[in-house]
Amino acid sequence: MEYLLHINGKWTGEALDKNPVLNPATGEIITKVPKGGRIEALQAVEAAHHAFEEWSGTTAYERAKLLKKYSNLIIDHEQELAELMTTEMGKPLSEAKGEVHYAANYIEWYSEQAKRIYGETIPTHDKNKRLQVWKKPIGVVAAITPWNFPAAMLTRKMGPALAAGCTVVIKPSKETPLTAIKLVELAEMAGFPNGVINIVTGSSKEIGEVFLTDPRVKKVTFTGSTEVGKTLMRQGADTVKKLSLELGGHAPMIILNDADLQKAVEGVTASKFRNSGQTCICGNRIYVQSAIYDQFIEVFADTVNQLRVGNGMETGIDVGPLINHAGVEKVNEHVLDAVKKGATVVVGGEQPEEKGNFYKPTIIKDANPDMLIMREETFGPVAPIQKFETIEEVVKLANDTPFGLAAYVFTENVSHGTRVIEKLDYGVVGWNDGTPSAVQAPFGGMKESGLGREGGHQGIEDFLETQYVSIGI
Ligand code: SIN
Repeated sequence: MEYLLHINGKWTGEALDKNPVLNPATGEIITKVPKGGRIEALQAVEAAHHAFEEWSGTTAYERAKLLKKYSNLIIDHEQELAELMTTEMGKPLSEAKGEVHYAANYIEWYSEQAKRIYGETIPTHDKNKRLQVWKKPIGVVAAITPWNFPAAMLTRKMGPALAAGCTVVIKPSKETPLTAIKLVELAEMAGFPNGVINIVTGSSKEIGEVFLTDPRVKKVTFTGSTEVGKTLMRQGADTVKKLSLELGGHAPMIILNDADLQKAVEGVTASKFRNSGQTCICGNRIYVQSAIYDQFIEVFADTVNQLRVGNGMETGIDVGPLINHAGVEKVNEHVLDAVKKGATVVVGGEQPEEKGNFYKPTIIKDANPDMLIMREETFGPVAPIQKFETIEEVVKLANDTPFGLAAYVFTENVSHGTRVIEKLDYGVVGWNDGTPSAVQAPFGGMKESGLGREGGHQGIEDFLETQYVSIGI
């Protein structure tokens, strides 16, 4: 298959320069994709702008039917999509299959939600007036998607946008454009009209600039780093661009003395090592209360020692490669810095022998707040553990960061759990749960972790305008 841009219902871009797409497990070039830029982005925006009038005039039932068909097609192509994802991104095939379902579920859920976009009638203060709130699709939406979840982060944006009646222009990550292009091909098969869904691969700078400055783009939705999110906010200021930003995290995982040890170990392992530690919500700092500190580390180390690292296409692999060499370097830097500042490696702490961007699942103990790993998002398979004594102390440590995406608490004591969570400044909290994401629940961060929410009934609001109508009768 040739991977091309899709603009106004046409596959295009054959003549453009190409960017290679690499397999992070082998370093090999899988294929090349067109290096689109300003011109192609403008063409895609024009197509989406033109298609908006008709698409926004369809009924919710028509949009729901198409979205449902699309979701079924994604499931039908599970194997192909998962293999593509593992090849370009690295996650183990079983995880990639899980993500295909997660992605399809966003489309399915919003196919149903399309029918539940309700306005309001407001009691009037004047018997000759009627007051109403109407909901309208916001317009052309530009979606900039990340490499760590190439399918689900796309459908989490596209599902509600299309359900609301918006048209979409997608810019996938340069590391993982293939899954996104395949998803657009499936949308075409489902029968979305020309121009409703467009995709442009290529220069982030040029394409991003068009998205943020073109007045025809009414909203930009982005998942990625806080640094880039801030740049987009600045670029979008002149057109007062509506933004949804799902940005960086630095999740604390708090294990209290009264936690169920097995549950805590399972939760931390799932959160930390899923996607090789490359999720925005994965535990980045693990705080264990003093009475169970040694015991937790012992059981956790036994579990982590059993994780198998390798090419995600092989069976039985739990932890795939990191996305690129820079990712491995950052992990290395965090581990070396922690050791220099007094931490001890309990498991892993180095790259395995085979080629590729691999790093061994790692536990380090006796971490402290001076270490880089306790201050920055690592985005890799390293679990640093710090001991604490009191609930007050750990809440302070957990909140001592500009980030506020996800946090985790493990305790069987309802009062302790409630008191800790009430004090945590985080948009998503897992209580005895290392994998809290669900399509029907709102996902997003407080503080510098972002703006807006994706998923759940909240997730469609950002794609709708509220119009107040006062009717004189
Ligand atoms: C993310 O890493 O941004 C998404 C993780 C999820 O949806 O669980």
